[in-house]
Parts: sequence; C-alpha cells; structure tokens
Amino acid sequence: MMDDFSPPPEGNEQAHDTAAHDAAHDTARSAARSAARARLDRLWSAGTGFLGSRYAILGGAMSWVSERNLVSAISNAGGFGVLACGAMEPDRLAEEIAATQAMTSRPFGVNLITMHPRLDDLVRVCLAAKVTHVVLAGGIPPGPAIRAIKDGGARAIAFAPALVLAKRLVRMGVDALVIEGAEAGGHIGPVSLTVLAQEVLPFIRSVPVFVAGGLGRGEAILSYLEQGAAGAQLGTRFAASAESIAHDRFKAAFVRANARDAVASIQLDERFPVIPVRGLTNEGTRAFLRHQGETVRRFLDGEFTREQAQLEIEHFWAGSLRRAVIDGDVENGSVMAGQSVGMISAVQPVAAIIAELVEQAVDALVRRDNPAEEM
Ligand SMILES: Cc1cc2nc3c(=O)[nH]c(=O)nc-3n(C[C@H](O)[C@H](O)[C@H](O)COP(=O)(O)O)c2cc1C
Repeated sequence: MMDDFSPPPEGNEQAHDTAAHDAAHDTARSAARSAARARLDRLWSAGTGFLGSRYAILGGAMSWVSERNLVSAISNAGGFGVLACGAMEPDRLAEEIAATQAMTSRPFGVNLITMHPRLDDLVRVCLAAKVTHVVLAGGIPPGPAIRAIKDGGARAIAFAPALVLAKRLVRMGVDALVIEGAEAGGHIGPVSLTVLAQEVLPFIRSVPVFVAGGLGRGEAILSYLEQGAAGAQLGTRFAASAESIAHDRFKAAFVRANARDAVASIQLDERFPVIPVRGLTNEGTRAFLRHQGETVRRFLDGEFTREQAQLEIEHFWAGSLRRAVIDGDVENGSVMAGQSVGMISAVQPVAAIIAELVEQAVDALVRRDNPAEEM
C-alpha cells in the first residue's frame, strides 16, 4: 500500500516529463543560439579579419571623447576602438597612443584629420608606434598619406560619402571604407545610411565596408551585414558609456534626449555656408542662428567683407566641443550627438553595450529560424 505522503505516480511522471521537456527546450535553445552566433561570426568575418577584433564593431573616433580610456575599453571588450587625434600635435598623439597601448594589448586604430597641417608627421608617429590601422577623416585623403601608411605596414581606412568616391578611394589603395549616414553625430554628409548603403554596398566588394550613423541596436547592424557590410561603427552610444571621460552632464543630456533633439546645424543664408554638424539643440544652437543673422546684417552694412563674415560664422563654434564634453556646459557648448541618442536610456559600461548589440543581432537570427518558438 502506498503511504499517504508519497506523491501519486502520475504526478511523478508529470514532473519528470516537464523536467525532460525543459531540458530538451534548453538544449534546443542553446543549440539555436550557438548556430546564430556562428552565423553572425560568418557575416562579419571580413570585418573581424580585417580589424583583428572579436566583433566587427568599431567605436568611431570622437574628438575629446575617444582617448585612452574609452578606446582601450572598446578594444578590451572585443570591439575596435579608434583614438581621435583631432588637433593634437605629434608629440601629444605619441603620448596618447603609448598610454592606450599600456591599457590594452588588443588592436585599435588612430583617426587623423586630413586637414591637419602636420598630417605627414602624425602618420609617422602612428607607424613608429606600430599602430595597425589609420583612419583618414575630413575629406578625400591625399595619395601620399595613404601610400605612407601602407608602406609603413599599417592599413588605411577612409570615409566614402558616395559611390564614385568609394571607387576612387579603392583605386587610391585604401584598405577599407566607412560609409557614414547623415543620422550620425558630429560632422555629417547629406545622405542617410539607408540610401548610402544601397548606393555603395552592392558595388564595392574588393575591400571591407563598415557602416556608420544612427546605429543603436544589433538588429540594425545585422541588417546591414546582410546587405554586404563588413561591420558597423558607432559613436553616440559609446560617448555616453561609463568609461567615456565626457562630463556627467554631457552623458545625462544623452540619456534625456530623443532622436529628434539631435539636429543638423542650420544655415541661415545661402551665401554663407555652414559646416553641417549634428548635435543636441540647446542655447548654443539658438545663439548660432542669432550670430549668423547678426553677421549677415554686418556684411550687408559693409562692416564685414564676405570673407570676414564667413570666418566670423566659422569661428563661432571654436572650442565649443571641449566646453560641452570636458567642462560639461551642455547649454552653450557643442553637444555633438547622432539620432541614435534616442536609444540611450542609461550610462552603461562599454562591455555591456557591446554584449547587448551582439545579443540583439543573435536574438534576431534565432527568432527568424524559430518563428513559432519563444526562445
Ligand atoms: C561627440 C562626437 C564627436 C565626433 N568626432 C569625430 C571626429 O573627431 N572624427 C571623426 O572622424 N568622426 C567623429 N565623430 C563621428 C563618429 O566617429 C561616428 O562615425 C559617428 O558617431 C557614428 O554615428 P552615431 O553617432 O550615430 O553612432 C564624432 C561623433 C560624435 C558623437
């Protein structure tokens, strides 16, 4: 006879069935995730092979933000950090590269602005320090700089704002391209990534092409990989990371902002071009409009020549990115940010951001293969 405390045999069987079902489900789930991870690894293998990183996720160079701490954190988390040289002199760049190398043994890149008056010296500094990848930003890079980088054993990466320029850059010998859409933070071109990707990705197969601008989630990165991209570059999300040295008020502004708050600079008068920069609207952006209006008035009154007026407009933002990033003056400084700022809801460590992006891409692949299953 069965004692009163024994569970009925059918209950036992049921519990056993449920446990067996759960175990089978867990096994299927982990097999599906491993398969999805392997697929993602294949999709961005041209990018990871080129960069030498675990994931083909670059942390785009950001002046004042992309220094040793952020760059090493991105590379240590399996991404690919890029130091922003900005206006640094060669000695200062050498110091920053050495400091970054002391914080990571993984590869990282250095972004040089082609207008820098000492571009050749900066390239020499990178090569002497055995930097593996040099990104040339700010217009079509000079041929000799590309050749010097390659002859020195490093890889040259350049930005392609249109297909014709992408083809020209490939002919000039660049080893990889970045196509950056107008959704991005900082200096921008006129075309969105959605359109630029369709214009460039099907036609450039000989070098890896990385996409940038407006990327805040792994599903979006996956969709560009499937269109032929080798990887993705993000700036805005990393600017608000825990390791970013940006002022707490700068990061708080990113957490608060919506996509529509990241606006491209507005040009008031067609005679006086304004360099398009995307950033958060604030008192500084409103003052810039007033400043343009006042400058145009002074030009019309004969107080300024056309050239003087143009310079007056261009000088308005001098020093203002530092003011926002380092001093935390987010009301008057230049709070450069892309539209992906709307997807930032907290300050997160870099490793968590990268893990989240990868998981979102993997989840999307798992869901696609198992539409009926709740994985
Ligand atoms: C605050 C800030 C500063 C930036 N500074 C630079 C720079 O100095 N050089 C550069 O090539 N790109 C710069 N960028 C662009 C980034 O490298 C990256 O391509 C861009 O942020 C990608 O788009 P996302 O902002 O939508 O992620 C900057 C972007 C931001 C947000």
